[in-house]
Amino acid sequence: MKYTPEPELHVFKTEDEVRCRVAELGKEIADDYLPRKNTLMVVGILDGAFFFTAHLVHAIYKNAPKIPLRMDFVKLSSYGDKTVSSGTVRVERDISQSIKGADVLIVDDIVDTGRTVDFLVQNLLKPREPASIRTCTLLHKPARAIIPIQPEYTGFIVPNEFVVGCGMDYKGEYRHLPYIGIFPGGKLWA
Ligand code: IMP
Ligand code: MG
Repeated sequence: MKYTPEPELHVFKTEDEVRCRVAELGKEIADDYLPRKNTLMVVGILDGAFFFTAHLVHAIYKNAPKIPLRMDFVKLSSYGDKTVSSGTVRVERDISQSIKGADVLIVDDIVDTGRTVDFLVQNLLKPREPASIRTCTLLHKPARAIIPIQPEYTGFIVPNEFVVGCGMDYKGEYRHLPYIGIFPGGKLWA
């Protein structure tokens, strides 16, 4: 590692560990979708999933450049500046392309209570009649599930702590870190 991690964080996964896992997920997804021939519509959830979505689509491309892949983004928010979900999901940006008959792959940074992904599937995706909907998340925090979401592709399971980096923020900070950090002692939980 060519840098010193932020002293207030524990490193949960290093940059190399994240890179290797994303490469594995890209291969798995490429193998699953290549035979299907449908458009693969990758739907990233902003802001947090910008980092993972970018790295994941490159990994898919490297394994299967012939997959007809398109990308779209939604912006959903349930947190504001807090570390605990507010319980309601707000749509700040909807998808902008048709997904009828497409295979939709939702990409998120972390599935926590499950509310965001569930809301997206039920309200913005299913009514538009895609051929299939699957979810790929960099992290899954099953200890806090309220709506039990079982992502088809998961990078890492995380303990019940607040994590940052690789797209994930705390009050707008830490998103740019190339590793995944945890605030020790759970001191950020409200
Ligand atoms: P959910 O709706 O509770 O599943 O969580 C949705 C969103 O909350 C995630 O996509 C993240 O953007 C954010 N989130 C949940 N847990 C964390 C965390 O530990 N760190 C940073 N963001 C989080
Ligand atoms: Mg998110």
